[in-house]
Amino acid sequence: MPIRTALQCKLPAMRVLGIETSCDETGIAIYDDSDGMLANLVYSQVDIHAEFGGVVPELASRDHIRKTLPLIQQAMQESGSNPDDIDAIAYTAGPGLVGALMVGACTAKSLAMAWEVPAVGVHHMEGHLLAPLLADEPPEYPFIALLVSGGHTLLLQCHTFGHYEVLGESVDDAAGEAFDKVAKMLGLAYPGGPAIENLAVEGHQERFRFPRPMTDRPGYQFSFSGLKTYTMNTLASIEEPDRQDRADIAFAFQDAVADTIRIKCRRAIEGTRIHRLILAGGVSANKHLRQRLTTLNADVHYPALSLCTDNGAMIAFAGYQRLRHGHTEDHAVVVRPRWPMTELASPP
Ligand code: KG4
Ligand code: ZN
Repeated sequence: MPIRTALQCKLPAMRVLGIETSCDETGIAIYDDSDGMLANLVYSQVDIHAEFGGVVPELASRDHIRKTLPLIQQAMQESGSNPDDIDAIAYTAGPGLVGALMVGACTAKSLAMAWEVPAVGVHHMEGHLLAPLLADEPPEYPFIALLVSGGHTLLLQCHTFGHYEVLGESVDDAAGEAFDKVAKMLGLAYPGGPAIENLAVEGHQERFRFPRPMTDRPGYQFSFSGLKTYTMNTLASIEEPDRQDRADIAFAFQDAVADTIRIKCRRAIEGTRIHRLILAGGVSANKHLRQRLTTLNADVHYPALSLCTDNGAMIAFAGYQRLRHGHTEDHAVVVRPRWPMTELASPP
């Protein structure tokens, strides 16, 4: 069943302010179920963390404090909204960096009290999961979902909204984390995914073939740590690697990740007989991965490129869905830096 609009449900229209601060992007958006996404602003802290080669949690929290309110003001202006127009506030309650989450949660709860509207805490990965449903022709339930971000690799069977079964996940590094670590080895900037994707374009495709981890045994689990070590050893085996060597390695690594994901997705499609797959999370922006998945016997859906990496739009939309399904919470500020998706409340 496609997502029903408020009009079809005969419910009053709803406008939701979304706040994402779980890591190193401040994302603010305003979603209206009659008029769509009215504002979607993302401020990336990448320049602040670049010199450290990864996210520094304390610097992230401090910068969210600086950016959250000005971006909310800007989003309100761009969408032509007054506080009276906002019916609810959605914020990322976890998983993520505790200080960064606290900034978004405190801002959301304070505004909710001042504006006398509900605030709803959203699971960051449910935000990613629902982002492809913002498309003009959203996929219908049930579907298989692969969430591939910097912190998670999760393969899910999604029966209907809020009813998700975990088929498999990574037993060590997340896919995005592996991209970031391999990028570091290759002397590329953070975040590693886009940097590897760009360098891999120059790579010779036939030179190396890296292993596809855990594809030779049954099940849906992933592991990217060994592939990372394999990549490191290959690099170490070359005396004074030049740009071409690094590009060849970048291609082989990226291809191994993409092919591993293709094999596991094919297995999930065959195992569940659900021929509809959605991919979401930062790594789903990768064009080589998208190309690899065209051979699957399934309808494959992705978020718009701007909605693959962290953003407020997916949080506003997931919060909207939760509210429509009756989710309520009090004004206490509670965040969950660790929050398994299996502990997500299922609506009735
Ligand atoms: O979903 P996301 O923005 O944040 C988390 O929830 O973690 O994902 C960020 C991750 C980073 O590891 C980044 O390197 C990776 O997504 N990423 C990519 C690409 N763009 C971002 N990985 C591969 N190819 C890309 N084009
Ligand atoms: Zn994310």
